[in-house]
Amino acid sequence: MHFSYFRIAALVLPLFTVAYAQDTSLRTVRQAFEAANIPEDIEINFNPSVLLEVTFPQPSGKSITLHAGVQLPRNATAGPPTFAVQGAAGRGPFVVATVDPDAPTPQDPTEAQIRHFLGSDFFASGGEPAPLTNRTPAISDFLQPTPPAGSPAHRYIFLLFNQPAGFDRQTLVNSTTDIANFNISSFAEATRLGNPIGGTFMLVAPDPTTA
Ligand SMILES: *[C@@H]1O[C@H](CO)[C@@H](O)[C@H](O)[C@H]1NC(C)=O
Ligand SMILES: *[C@@H]1O[C@H](CO)[C@@H](O)[C@H](O)[C@H]1NC(C)=O
Ligand SMILES: *[C@@H]1O[C@H](CO)[C@@H](O)[C@H](O)[C@H]1NC(C)=O
Repeated sequence: MHFSYFRIAALVLPLFTVAYAQDTSLRTVRQAFEAANIPEDIEINFNPSVLLEVTFPQPSGKSITLHAGVQLPRNATAGPPTFAVQGAAGRGPFVVATVDPDAPTPQDPTEAQIRHFLGSDFFASGGEPAPLTNRTPAISDFLQPTPPAGSPAHRYIFLLFNQPAGFDRQTLVNSTTDIANFNISSFAEATRLGNPIGGTFMLVAPDPTTA
């Protein structure tokens, strides 16, 4: 049955390659955000002008760069992720925010949003994509997704903003502020972040061992 083996391999391999390939089209990213109802749920205008690459290092094997809407097993999301930008974003500085609007469950998100990451003073080094490095410690360090047992997969949304002058003097959020009940829309409004210039997201379901 060599024939059917090769037929299956030919079908499965390209799908697998696509599953872990990065975003290449702004339109595809915007459509994925809309299909997942993200702009409405977190009350943002999402018209990206650059691609945000979010890459999770893996303990063994190749690191994984997200494409918008990819589902990753929880154990691949320990992070912390690295960021890069593709397109004419300039040198920075930028702010990156990661939120989970589905906590504890998408049906009843009473703790949402959970702030999984918030960092400022990211600057792009040369290259395409251009890696981003932050010159100041993150405001909220990256926190691995932990959707509770029994919950459907949560959306973990990464957003890139141009950083306005004076952002680092904001007093709304610091390293000790509760990460629950965050609101990226009101935070962006209050700190004059404006609309995100890029973003992507992943889905992560509870660990099979806790389900
Ligand atoms: C995650 O768990 C799966 C299933 O147990 C395993 O096959 C895989 O190697 C694990 N991946 C990592 C990054 O630990
Ligand atoms: C964080 O903000 C709270 C509320 O404004 C404040 O009481 C606390 O001292 C701040 N913590 C740090 C580490 O700056
Ligand atoms: C989040 O903030 C926006 C803008 O201030 C506001 O319209 C919205 O009601 C807030 N969402 C929640 C869930 O509080």
